[in-house]
Amino acid sequence: MAPGGAMSVSKPLLTALQRGPTTSTPIWLMRQAGRYLPEYRTIRGKVARFLDLCLTPELAAEVTLQPLRRFELDGAILFSDILVLPYGLGQVVSFEEGKGPQLAPIRREEDIARLQLSAVAERTAAVEEALRLIVKSLPVGKTLIGFAGAPWTVACYMVEGEGGTDFEHVRAWAYGEPESFQKLIDILVEGTVDHLVRQIDAGAETLQIFDSWAGVLAANRRMRWSIAPIAAIVKRVRAARPAIPIIVFPRGVGASYVDFARQCGCDGLSLDSGVSLNWAASELQASTVLQGNLDPMLLVLGGTAMRDEAEQILRAWSGGPFVFNLGHGILPQTPPEHVAELCRLVHRFGRTS
Ligand code: CP3
Repeated sequence: MAPGGAMSVSKPLLTALQRGPTTSTPIWLMRQAGRYLPEYRTIRGKVARFLDLCLTPELAAEVTLQPLRRFELDGAILFSDILVLPYGLGQVVSFEEGKGPQLAPIRREEDIARLQLSAVAERTAAVEEALRLIVKSLPVGKTLIGFAGAPWTVACYMVEGEGGTDFEHVRAWAYGEPESFQKLIDILVEGTVDHLVRQIDAGAETLQIFDSWAGVLAANRRMRWSIAPIAAIVKRVRAARPAIPIIVFPRGVGASYVDFARQCGCDGLSLDSGVSLNWAASELQASTVLQGNLDPMLLVLGGTAMRDEAEQILRAWSGGPFVFNLGHGILPQTPPEHVAELCRLVHRFGRTS
C-alpha cells in the first residue's frame, strides 16, 4: 500500500522515465491537444483569445483531457504555452490566427528592466488551478506532464516578437552583447524554475523543457545559451523536488545531443526526426531515456509509411529506456484516426498476446 492507504497504481510513462520495466512502450505526443481535434476547435471557438484558453482553468483542463478520451495515450500534457511565462513577466503577448505568436519585442537592456519576476506567480496562477482540476479527473495509470520553454527559445520569441524568422535580433544580441543578454537569460532561468516547481506542487508528475530553437545557435554558442541555462533549471528544480523526472527537447542540435545528455542533468532526451536511430541507440541510450522521434508528416500520411517508420523506431529503441513520441508537434491537418492507430501499434509492439 502506498502512503495514504491508496493502492499504488502503475503509471507506465512515469515508470519508463524512471528507467523501470513496463509491459509495453509508453506513448504521448507533443501537441496532442490542438486544432486537429474537432472537440478542441469547439472549445477554442468559445474564447476570443488563445491565452484566455490557457488561463481559464476549466477550459485548459478540459482541453488537456480531450486526447486521452479518444486515444490510448499514457500521458496528459498540461494545456498551456511556453509564452505564458513572458506574459507572466508582463510582456504583451498575443496569438494571431495564421500569424502565430506576436509579442511587443524586447531589444535593449532597458526593456529587460521592465520585466517583473514578482508578477509571474499571480499572473500564471490559473495554470496551477488547471493542473489541480486535471489531477481530479486524470484517468487511472496516466501521467501528468508539466512543461516550460527553455530560456533560449523563450528569448527568441521575446526578442524577435514573432516566430518564423531567422532570429536575427536575438542572435545579434546574444553574440554581440553577451553581458546584457545574460541578464535576460538569468531572469528566464529564475522565472522558469519557479513556474516549474509550482506546476509540480499542483500535480505535475514529470516535466518537459522545450528548446525548439536550440538548433539556430552556432555550435560554439550552444553551451552558454542553451545547455547552461537548461542545466541550471534542472539542478534547481531537482534540488527543490528531487523525485520528478525531467525531459529536455533541444530540437535540431544533431550530434550535440550527446552534450545535452552529458551536461543537462536531465532524465530523458526528446529527439527530433533528424536523429538517426542506430546512432542514438549507441551514443545516447545508455545514459538517458530516449523519447521520439516519428516525423509528424508520417502521422499526417498514416498507412504503411507511418507503420513502417514507427516499427523501425520501436525495433531500434524499445530494448532500452524509451518513450514513443513525435520528432516535433502534431500538425493541424493530422487525421485523428491515424493517432488512434499509432497508439495501438506502439502498445502492441513486441507483445505476443
Ligand atoms: O498539447 C500540447 O502539447 C500542450 C500544449 C502546448 C501548446 N504549445 C499549445 C498551443 C505546448 C506544450 C506548446 C509548446 C510551445 N508553444 C512550443 C514548443 C514546442 C514546439 O512546437 O516547438 C512553442 C515554440 C510554442 C509557441 C507557440 N504557440 C507557437 C509558435 C504557436 C503558433 C503555432 C501554431 O501551431 O499555431 C503557438 C500557439 C499554440 N500553442 C497552439 C496550441 C494548441 C495553436 C493556437 C490555436 O489553437 O489557436
